[in-house]
Amino acid sequence: MIDYLRSDELVSPCFVLGDSLNVLACLPDNSIDCVITSPPYYMKRQYLGGGIGLESTYQEYIDNLLKITKEIYRILKPTGSFWLNVGDSYKNKQLLNIPYRIAIRMQDEQRWILRNTVVWDKMKGSMSNSKDSMGSEYEPMFHFVKSKSGYYYDANSVRKKPRSAQVKNGAVVSATGVSGVRYKRKIELSTELTEEQRENAYKALEETLERIKRGELSDFRMVIKGANQRVTNGNTTNLSGRAKELQEKGFYFLFYNPNGSMISDVWQIVPEDTQGRKLHFAPFPEDLVKTPIILTCPQNGIVLDPFVGTGTTSYVAAQLGRKSIGIDMAREYLEIAEDRCLEYGSLNNGNLESYI
Ligand SMILES: C[S@@+](CC[C@H](N)C(=O)[O-])C[C@H]1O[C@@H](n2cnc3c(N)ncnc32)[C@H](O)[C@@H]1O
Repeated sequence: MIDYLRSDELVSPCFVLGDSLNVLACLPDNSIDCVITSPPYYMKRQYLGGGIGLESTYQEYIDNLLKITKEIYRILKPTGSFWLNVGDSYKNKQLLNIPYRIAIRMQDEQRWILRNTVVWDKMKGSMSNSKDSMGSEYEPMFHFVKSKSGYYYDANSVRKKPRSAQVKNGAVVSATGVSGVRYKRKIELSTELTEEQRENAYKALEETLERIKRGELSDFRMVIKGANQRVTNGNTTNLSGRAKELQEKGFYFLFYNPNGSMISDVWQIVPEDTQGRKLHFAPFPEDLVKTPIILTCPQNGIVLDPFVGTGTTSYVAAQLGRKSIGIDMAREYLEIAEDRCLEYGSLNNGNLESYI
C-alpha cells in the first residue's frame, strides 16, 4: 500500500513514502523523462528504515539494485535518461569496484546504453589516515539512455560559452588572438603550397573571416602546410580526414561552435556540508543534479528519484520548473524534503496517477 504524501498539479514535487521497488511497480511504462539517483552505498551506513545497502554480500546488494534499474528501464520514456551516482566500498582491503560492476551488468543484461561516466571530483575528500592506499576524492555518475539516438539532450543549455572573435581596425581577430592578417602572411610564406593551393587558401580564409564578421563562427584556427608545426608528410593512405585535407588541399580549418564547447565529464563540485547533514548522511549537492536536469529533462518533463532522501533532486527540479517524483522509505527524510520544497506548492493529497 502506497502512502501518498504530497503532490499537486503544478510543478510542486510529488513525494511517495515506500519501498522503491514497490512504488516503481505502480508507475506506467514509458512515463518518466529523467531519473537521477544515488542509492545507499554498500555497507556504508544505516539509514532510518533500513533498506538497500545492508546485504551480507556485495553480489546481493548489486542484485537488489539491478531489480530497481530494471524497473527504471521500463518506466523511462524512450527519449529518457538515467543518471546513477554510486560510490565504492572496500571489503578485506579489496576495493570492490561496485559502481562498474553495476554499470556493466546494466549494459550486458538490461540493454542500457552508457553515454558517459562522469567523474564527480569532490575537490576535498575526507582526510585519509591510510598508510597503504590513497584517499579517494571522486565518485562516478553514470549517464544511461535506452535508445542510441533521439534521446532528449539539450547540449546548448550546458555549453561553455566561448570568447568571441572581434573586429579591430577593420581586421578580424579570433578569440584566441590570431588575426586574418597573420594567416595571410603564413599562406604567403609557406614554401610547400602550390600556387593553386595558395590561391584557394586565401579565398577560404576570406570566406571564413566573413563568416566571423557575420557572427556565424566564434573562432577558428587555420592549419597551413609548410607554415605550422603539425605537418603530415609521407604517402600513407591511412591518413585521418584532416591530415588528408592538409596533404591534398594544403590547409584545413578548425571551427569553434558559436554556442561554445561541450562541458567535460569531470565535474568539480564540493559535497553538501550544511543542508541536512545533521539529519541525513549523504545529501546530493544541488549542482550535481542541476546539469542532468537541464541537459536531459525537457521543460514539461518529469524527473524521478527513487532514493530521494532529503529531496535535493525534487528541490532542484522545482527550481528549474520541472515536475518530480521522489520516493524514500524513511518518513523523516521525506518530511525534510517537503519542508525544503514548501515554496513550490501547497501540501495536498493528490495521487501518483494523476500527477503523471
Ligand atoms: C544516499 S541517500 C539519498 C540522498 C539524497 N540524494 C539526498 O539528496 O538527500 C539514499 C536514500 O535511500 C533511502 N532508501 C534505502 N533503501 C530504500 C528503499 N528500498 N526504498 C526507498 N528508499 C530507500 C534511504 O532512506 C536514503 O534516504
